[in-house]
Amino acid sequence: MSVTTEAPTVEIRNVGKTFKRSGHSFEVLKDVTLAVGLDEILTVLGPSGCGKSTLLNCIAGLETYDGLITVNQREVRTPSTEVAVVFQAPELLPWRTVRGNARYGLELSKAAPKSEWNQRIDAALEVVGLSDSADLYPRQLSGGMQQRVNIARALAVRPRVLLMDEPFGALDAITKERMQEELQRIVASERLTVVFITHDISEAIYLGNRVAVMSKNPGGVRLIQEIAEPRPRELSYKRSPGFQELYTQLWSSL
Ligand SMILES: Nc1ncnc2c1ncn2[C@@H]1O[C@H](COP(=O)(O)OP(=O)(O)OP(=O)(O)O)[C@@H](O)[C@H]1O
Ligand SMILES: [Mg+2]
Repeated sequence: MSVTTEAPTVEIRNVGKTFKRSGHSFEVLKDVTLAVGLDEILTVLGPSGCGKSTLLNCIAGLETYDGLITVNQREVRTPSTEVAVVFQAPELLPWRTVRGNARYGLELSKAAPKSEWNQRIDAALEVVGLSDSADLYPRQLSGGMQQRVNIARALAVRPRVLLMDEPFGALDAITKERMQEELQRIVASERLTVVFITHDISEAIYLGNRVAVMSKNPGGVRLIQEIAEPRPRELSYKRSPGFQELYTQLWSSL
């Protein structure tokens, strides 16, 4: 195997982040070291305020930080078209159709020549199962469909890395499980590397190749739990004794 296929897609080495607030320094992240590989979903659990979103923003190149973060061995200091972020709230533009919203990421990133946009948008809508809803407006969509538009917007940029900040947090239980299954499928078909933040222990186990548990003040990685279950994972995995055991273990570590 060559060095490039062995190297993790995302490497976070001794990353720290200190915010200045009214003259005081506030250390949010301290000495965070993590690596995430191709086709991998790293899920991140941790108490509110421990720095999960801050870490995601650093990986996205939206925040300054101490230490080193690389994506495909290139240092991250500013946003790049290799990395796309899916935030918790869909924040769709109400006056634009599904297609118009899916185009938005391309417009911002200028990731591709305009002549390729339509083809990329079609492909992204197909992946999230919204090809037949391309001309609908956000108000005509269910919550799950809106969140899928949000994901299509990120996928149209053809990122190598998808950063997701509690993307299914607002969905009902059934839609959430459908989206979890869909995300697994998308990661496998698009060959992505995913960092997925969640408050939901079940979701962290079901989706993660590994679960990173963060501690607070300052935020750091307290433990990393490997999830050996092969993919694609059936939803029935959530009802298995092995799953329950991992759940209890992670619950007590939080
Ligand atoms: N721009 C900023 N300036 C100052 N402090 C900030 C800033 N952004 C975040 N913080 C602080 O950093 C800490 C971590 O915030 P962050 O949003 O990363 O937490 P989180 O783990 O994502 O929490 P949650 O689970 O509630 O989303 C919080 O105490 C927050 O107040
Ligand atoms: Mg957050």
